[in-house]
Amino acid sequence: MRKQLIAGNWKMNGTIDETKTLLEGLLSGSFDSSKADMVVCPPFTALSYAGNLLKGSKIAVGAQDMSVHENGAYTAEISAGMLLTVGVSFVILGHSERRQYHAESNQMINAKAKVAIEAGLTPIICVGETLEDRESGNTETVIGQQIDGTLFEFSAELLNKSVIAYEPVWAIGTGKTATPEMAQDVHQFIRNRIAGIDKEAAEKIQILYGGSVKPDNAKSLLSQPDIDGALVGGAALKADDFLKIINSL
Ligand code: 13P
Repeated sequence: MRKQLIAGNWKMNGTIDETKTLLEGLLSGSFDSSKADMVVCPPFTALSYAGNLLKGSKIAVGAQDMSVHENGAYTAEISAGMLLTVGVSFVILGHSERRQYHAESNQMINAKAKVAIEAGLTPIICVGETLEDRESGNTETVIGQQIDGTLFEFSAELLNKSVIAYEPVWAIGTGKTATPEMAQDVHQFIRNRIAGIDKEAAEKIQILYGGSVKPDNAKSLLSQPDIDGALVGGAALKADDFLKIINSL
């Protein structure tokens, strides 16, 4: 049985005051950590604060991106090593907003994922098709290329230290969710594709769904056999909603 993982991607939201309110809200609630792990991914400026506040709690901290470089003349970049020093253990890589606005390629995401794992971080590697891809019947072609590219030269060992997130671009922030069946189909496709690298690792790897996950649709999505958790945007900004999502399991 794969354990579920519920991750909150706060995107560009969360001053220190807002982070304090949201995290205190989460800490005052409860969830069954034998069923699911919880990760919050605040912006870079709140990571240190979150790392301190959540130390020793059941809630882990993730970053939303990181540099492929170790250190040096890379203005505004943040390295894996820096993330580790503030209590971060996960990093989202290749989110569609990074792909779209920062031209991140599968190759770059692949390189970052290897650097993250080498440093001891768990990458949450994102893939997802656009509406145009889906409407033209290219979902599997696009997702297949993204999986092959982002997991290029991955061994079973690297797969065992990674998490995948399937986020259809057309479902992000739109209130349009993939139906549980649509999501399940793509998750199964992804798992089969990974089985081409290593069968056992494909059975173990967590594949999260993201795209307008809310308290009222979480249960039906998370009960699909190949959906092992959620990557939540908007609903992760309200402690009650985020707790309801993890408690829908
Ligand atoms: P929403 O839940 O706001 O649709 O965002 C999903 C997402 O992009 C999480 O990474």
